[in-house]
This record gives sequence, structure tokens and C-alpha cells, in this order.
Amino acid sequence: MGYTLNHLLDIESTPVAALEDILDTAQSLIDDSADHRDRLRGRLQVNLFYEPSTRTRVSFEVAARRLGMDVVNVAAVGSSVAKGESLIDTYRTLEAMQPDVIVLRHPDNGVHATLASTGACLVNAGDGSRAHPSQALLDVLTLRQHQPDLARLRVLVAGDLHHSRVTRSGVALMKKLGVGEIRLAAPPGLEADAKVTEGTRTYDRLDEALDGVDVIMMLRVQRERLSGIDVPDSESYHRAWGLTPARLAMAAPNAIVMHPGPMNRGVEIASAVADGPQSVITRQVNNGVFVRMAVLLRLLEAR
Ligand code: NCD
Repeated sequence: MGYTLNHLLDIESTPVAALEDILDTAQSLIDDSADHRDRLRGRLQVNLFYEPSTRTRVSFEVAARRLGMDVVNVAAVGSSVAKGESLIDTYRTLEAMQPDVIVLRHPDNGVHATLASTGACLVNAGDGSRAHPSQALLDVLTLRQHQPDLARLRVLVAGDLHHSRVTRSGVALMKKLGVGEIRLAAPPGLEADAKVTEGTRTYDRLDEALDGVDVIMMLRVQRERLSGIDVPDSESYHRAWGLTPARLAMAAPNAIVMHPGPMNRGVEIASAVADGPQSVITRQVNNGVFVRMAVLLRLLEAR
């Protein structure tokens, strides 16, 4: 394989060869309908989530079960976290039970690097506004299915870029794999930081940014992370920043519409677009299961 993968912490620290291998593996799992339950039978995955999640948590569990693994879910509410146990003590306690992999989501940026050890493989399922590598992988898999030659794609990411770990990891992966043009559009106060915008085109209005793009990734406003930033009410936001059928018509005729979920219908995206023929939002969810199967295989199969 030519690389070693002990953890999946973020896109930046993962070798390109590993990222490409995960994408190729995920696509081949989609293309063949074989039973893969013998491949990681009896291995153990622990999911530790300190923030709400539907898609990410469930798809990690579905992925593990399709590979024959056992899965234990620890919700922070209902565990000793509610009694004041620290993250490090909780993590080491779970690690002492010898799982093969721990999948962790946490509201603080950068916690994963402090926990990763020679024990369990650690997978980042989202840390604060910093990173969400498996989401980036499933998003780029969706791009490759639309256009295998990523250099030919013009991709727009629009919405609350400032608080978005999906943007940070997604843009990092698109740059690493050579997407032709990356456009970033955000309302005032919600722009991405310089490390993200470097090498991209930035816009402060959605209408201009949409012109001729092949892919539109819409993001919700991360209201739980705003702290002091003034964001317009839902109706005004939708008027200026909502993806409506009229705005979608400004993109390339066969453009696809993506959203990592959860969606706020009628705010960043109109239902007619979310449920329309150009939407690949449910395909993203489906790809998420296969990408996570590929991550588990690449982490565990050779160990
Ligand atoms: C995202 C997340 O949690 O970062 N959701 C997801 O994992 N699909 C995006 C969000 O919460 O807006």
C-alpha cells in the first residue's frame, strides 16, 4: 500500500496515497455486492459522541456491522461524563476494554491528537470547527462519481464557512486531490480563515459565486457555535443566501447540489432544490457508509 494509517485524525495529516486508497476502496465496495462480514468479524468499534449526530454515528455503526464488527455506543449523556469525568479519563477507560477502533466526536478543536495512542485506532468524527475527515472523503467520492477527472470541476461551497469543520476538511481534501476551481461564498462574519481561502476564489454574494459551477455544497449556519456573531433571521438569510430553483439555474445545467446535513429547509436551501432532480444529498449519505467501511478496512485489516 506504501503508507501506514494508524488513525484518521484529519485530512492534512493523512497521506494522499491513503486518501486515494480509501476513495478507491469505497467505490469498489459500492460496485460489488459481495458479503464482507468476514473481513473484520469480531473486531470491536466504540462510538463516543459528545455532540449530537444522526448520519455520522449511524453510518459508522452500519459500516462496522457490514464488516462483521461488534459495536458499542457511548453517549456522553447517560455515561460518567455526566458525573464530571474528563475526556481523557473516559477515553482511557474505554481503551482499557481493548476496542480495535474508537470513533470520537467532540466540541473542542484538536482533542484527538492528544488522545491518539498505540492502543486503539482513533477516528475523528468531528472536532469543534476544525476537522471532519470522513465527511470530506464521502463528499469527494460524490464529486468523483459526478466527474472522475476532478481537475475539470468547479465547486462552490456556500454558507457558514467560519464554523464549518466540513468546509475545513472538504477544502483541504479538494486541494490535495486537485479539484480544478474551488469557490467559497460566505455572509459577513462567517467567512473562512486565510488557511482555507488560500488558493480559492472568495465571494461575498451567492449569486455571483454560482455562475457556471458544476457542484454546489450548501452549509447550514452553525447556530450552536456563533458566540456573538450577528446572523440575520431565517427569512432574510434565505433571501440573500438560500439556494432556490432560480439561483440553481445560474449554475451549469447538470450541476449537482450537495449538503452534509442536517438541513434547515427554507433557510440555506429551498425544499424544491433539496428534493429536486439535481440533489445528490441522499447519495452522499449512502456514500458515507461505504467510505466508513473503507476507513475501517484500511485501519484494521492489516493489524
Ligand atoms: C455536519 C457536522 O456535524 O459537522 N454534519 C454531519 O456530520 N453530516 C454538519 C453540521 O452539523 O452542520
